[in-house]
Amino acid sequence: MTTTQTTSPANTPASLGGRAPKTPVIAFLGTGRMGGPMAVNLARGGFQLRVWNRTSSRAAALAGHGAFVAHTPAEAAQSAGILITMLADGPATERAANGPDGFLARCPGLIWVQMATIGARWSAQLAVAAARHGVTFVDAPVSGSQGPAEAGQLIILASGPDRVRDVLNPVFGALGRATVWLGPAGDGTRAKLVLNSWLVDLVEATAEALSFAGRLGLDPASIVELLQSTPLGSPYAVQKATAMLAGDFTPAFALKHAVKDAELAVQAAYGLGTHLPLTEALLPRWRHTALEHADDDLSAVYITA
Ligand SMILES: NC(=O)c1ccc[n+]([C@@H]2O[C@H](COP(=O)([O-])OP(=O)(O)OC[C@H]3O[C@@H](n4cnc5c(N)ncnc54)[C@H](OP(=O)(O)O)[C@@H]3O)[C@@H](O)[C@H]2O)c1
Repeated sequence: MTTTQTTSPANTPASLGGRAPKTPVIAFLGTGRMGGPMAVNLARGGFQLRVWNRTSSRAAALAGHGAFVAHTPAEAAQSAGILITMLADGPATERAANGPDGFLARCPGLIWVQMATIGARWSAQLAVAAARHGVTFVDAPVSGSQGPAEAGQLIILASGPDRVRDVLNPVFGALGRATVWLGPAGDGTRAKLVLNSWLVDLVEATAEALSFAGRLGLDPASIVELLQSTPLGSPYAVQKATAMLAGDFTPAFALKHAVKDAELAVQAAYGLGTHLPLTEALLPRWRHTALEHADDDLSAVYITA
C-alpha cells in the first residue's frame, strides 16, 4: 500500500523554532552537494546531529549549526538512534558501514536510513548486512536536486518496515515536502531507478532537440520558448535547456552521478531479462562526455549532442 505524507507548514524546519522534537540522535554520513544542505535542515529542525564526511572540511560548516563533527563513521554513530547515509554510491556506502571504521558492527538497534542512489543490488546487499548486525534498514532515496535539498523540498521515496514510520516521518518532514511510503525496503530504490531513467532520457531528448534545431538553422532559444508554451515542455526540461543554451553547467546533479544512475537502471533491467533501449543508447556518449565533465551538471551532455 502507498501512503503519502505531505509536510504541513506546522512541520517545517522554520516553524519548529529550534525546539527539539522527541527523537533519537541522528548520525549523518556524507555532507556533499545533497547531504550538506540536508544535514543543515535537520539541524535547523532541532534534531541533535552527529556528522561525518570523508573530506572533513566539507562537514566543518555543520559545527556552526550545532552538529558534532566526527572523524569516522563509527564515531558519528555513537549514541545515535538513527543513521542516514548520503554518500556517492554503493561502494562508498558499504565502506562506511563495513569498513575498518564502519558503524554497522557497533550499533545494534540502530535505524539506518540509506538515502543515496545506490541501485537495487547494493540496497539488497546492505539490507542483508544490516539484518546480520541487528540494524533496521530503511531504503529512502530522494527525488529533487541541490535546490530542493537546500529548501527542504525533496520527495522522499521511503521503503521499509511499518514500525519505523512514526519515528522517521518527522525526520523526513525536515528534509522534504512529501514522503511516499512505497513498501518493503528496496522499493524506494526501485522507484528511484525508474525516475532517474526518465530523467536522463528527458535530458538527452532536450540536448538532442536543441542540437537538431541548431543544425536545421533555427534559433534553439525559439524552440525552448515554443516548448514552454505547450504541454511538451516540462519545467525540468526547460530549466536544463536554458542552462544548456547559456553554457552554464554549474552542478546541481553531477554528470558522473547521472551516468552511475543510468548504468544502475540498465543493469537492473538487464537483471530482469529486459532492456531500456533509450537509456542504453545515451550511455556511451554520456560516459565519453563525463571524461572531461564528470563534475559538471548533467546538462553538459549538450556539448556533445
Ligand atoms: N545532486 C543531485 O541532484 C542528486 C539528487 C538525488 C540523489 N542524488 C544522489 O545522492 C548521492 C549524493 O549526491 P551528491 O550530489 O551529494 O554528490 P557529491 O556532492 O558528489 O557528494 C558525494 C558524497 O559522497 C562522498 N564520497 C564519495 N566517494 C566516497 C568514498 N569513496 N568514500 C567515502 N565517501 C565518499 C563525498 O565525500 P567527499 O566530500 O570527501 O568527496 C560526499 O560526501 C548520490 O548517490 C547521488 O546520485 C543526487
